[in-house]
Amino acid sequence: MRKKVVAANWKMNLTIEESIELLQKIKNHINIDTKEVVLCVPFTNIYTCKEETKNTNIHIGAENLYFEEKGAYTGEISSSMLLSLGVEYVIIGHSERRQIFNENDEMINKKVLKALSKNIYPILCCGETLEQREKNETLSIIKNQLSKDLINVTKEDAMKIIIAYEPIWAIGTGKTATSSQAEEVCKYTREIIKELYDKEVSENVRILYGGSVKASNAKEIFAKENIDGGLIGGASLTEEFIDIVKA
Ligand code: PGA
Repeated sequence: MRKKVVAANWKMNLTIEESIELLQKIKNHINIDTKEVVLCVPFTNIYTCKEETKNTNIHIGAENLYFEEKGAYTGEISSSMLLSLGVEYVIIGHSERRQIFNENDEMINKKVLKALSKNIYPILCCGETLEQREKNETLSIIKNQLSKDLINVTKEDAMKIIIAYEPIWAIGTGKTATSSQAEEVCKYTREIIKELYDKEVSENVRILYGGSVKASNAKEIFAKENIDGGLIGGASLTEEFIDIVKA
């Protein structure tokens, strides 16, 4: 049985004071061990969030990392820096990084390999634009992204990756994919993993859906056979996240 994952993506939101305030309201309600609850927070909030969630089952993740070990990379954060803060997960290849910060699959692949080399679990995002969906390219886009993002990732490491299918047209737009649209792509994603690795990996890898997940639609989406939870943006910034975790 694959353990469900509910991961928050705070993006560039919440000051330290605001994150403490939110955590004090929600932490006792999301402190469960039947699901993996992960909060991916801005770099500046990681230390505080770790402190605030000490002695709970809540895991803290980052939203990005740089693939070099150290050196003259002004403004970047390395995997060792994350590790020394106790970070266990990192979002890689989010569409906002791909689109706004021009990250390509080659960089994403280097980041995935770097995170895995430090035993930080990548939450690897993939997804299509509205234009690509309308041209019927969704499945080929996902296949293309994953096959490039996973180059040189061993079978053993592939089992540790969490994939998040996030249709770009559904992110922050309030337009959620229907649960059957989400299931269709997540099922196909599992087939790609089977092609790239084998049945064992495809049956064990966790595949999440992300894009306007709310308390009102989470239950239906998470109930789908190939969807193992969600990556939650906007709705993770309020107490609504409690109901999503419980969905
Ligand atoms: P959203 O964001 O839930 O606000 O649509 C999801 C994401 O970008 O990970």
